Amino acid sequence: MSTVDPLVLAVETSCDETSAAILHGDRAVLGHVILSQDAHALYGGVVPEIAARAHLDAIDDVVAGALRQAQTPLPAIDVFAATAGPGLIGALLVGLTWTKATAWSLGRPFVPVHHMEAHLFATALADAAAVPPFVALLVSGGHTLLLHVRAWGDYRLLGETRDDAAGEAFDKVAKILGLGFPGGPRIEAAARSGNPAAHPFPRPMLAGQQQPSDPDYCDFSFSGLKTAVLTRTRHLERQGSLAPHIADLAASFQAAVVDVLVTKTVRAVERTASSRVVLGGGVSASRVLQTALGNALRGRATLHVPTPRLATDNAAMIASAALFRHGRGETGSLSATARADLPFPGLVREDRPDVPAA
Ligand code: KG4
Ligand code: ZN
Repeated sequence: MSTVDPLVLAVETSCDETSAAILHGDRAVLGHVILSQDAHALYGGVVPEIAARAHLDAIDDVVAGALRQAQTPLPAIDVFAATAGPGLIGALLVGLTWTKATAWSLGRPFVPVHHMEAHLFATALADAAAVPPFVALLVSGGHTLLLHVRAWGDYRLLGETRDDAAGEAFDKVAKILGLGFPGGPRIEAAARSGNPAAHPFPRPMLAGQQQPSDPDYCDFSFSGLKTAVLTRTRHLERQGSLAPHIADLAASFQAAVVDVLVTKTVRAVERTASSRVVLGGGVSASRVLQTALGNALRGRATLHVPTPRLATDNAAMIASAALFRHGRGETGSLSATARADLPFPGLVREDRPDVPAA
């Protein structure tokens, strides 16, 4: 860190966390506030309109809190950044509009940030060795991506989900089992007293003798697994014997997801001859996933995991990605707008590097 490093204020409002962070240099997080909206628990999922209104209510206080922690007055900020997508459009617009207006009023540059690129930067905020080249497994509520990160900004898509994201599967299965929202931590807690071998759920896209040349060799699919849990749950319900099976169902489902994620990540490491793996996104908070992946990679590659606070949505990772983009001179114009399906910058298909991958 040097005195010439810019002081970045970043805001994240893509889903149900209102967050602001002040970053100085690569890893010095001077202030960081994350406010989770709990109203969504009542509905078993994020309600977009409620999320947008809650961001609007909270944003002033959340930013003020981060500035207070950093002991920094707003005019001292050199660069402003906000998540521009992907995410819920109404929620994104709150953070993006607030930040652009503030940057404009102070005459400072504004950097729009891609939420999933930011998840790539999160681990390095607390682990200086989590830098490219590496294989990244990004597992969140909206995405499941296996990437070869050759350098910051240079991303090859190795695999992605063909239907539900991993976190989405956790959330839907938690709802089926009546465990509440968000699903990941609820399933992990319930699974602690369950037997992961009790229900032999399918391991999608692991079956048979898959070959590296198969188009889905590193891809994921979680929708069929979710349906298998639903069918088994309904069957037990009809028999009136669901309650004693909840822990086993949670543990068996979690084991199937983890098995698929771990196997595909090992394939990606072999394919790219990588010596480092970086985990990111909310599902990477799973201790079960961290342990299983760490064991599978032993002797092949080192595993870098984000701290629990940096695994789920947070503004420090947005600030870090913004610092990288700003360093490359990529300051966005004030006309930059929010996009629910913002393309991942610098991401190309592994087999067709001339083709951008969404
Ligand atoms: O990255 P994130 O905070 O938000 C998005 O960008 O989507 O990820 C949220 C997802 C949710 O689906 C949540 O259920 C999941 O991360 N999650 C977990 C765990 N903690 C959060 N999934 C599995 N195990 C966990 N311990
Ligand atoms: Zn996220």
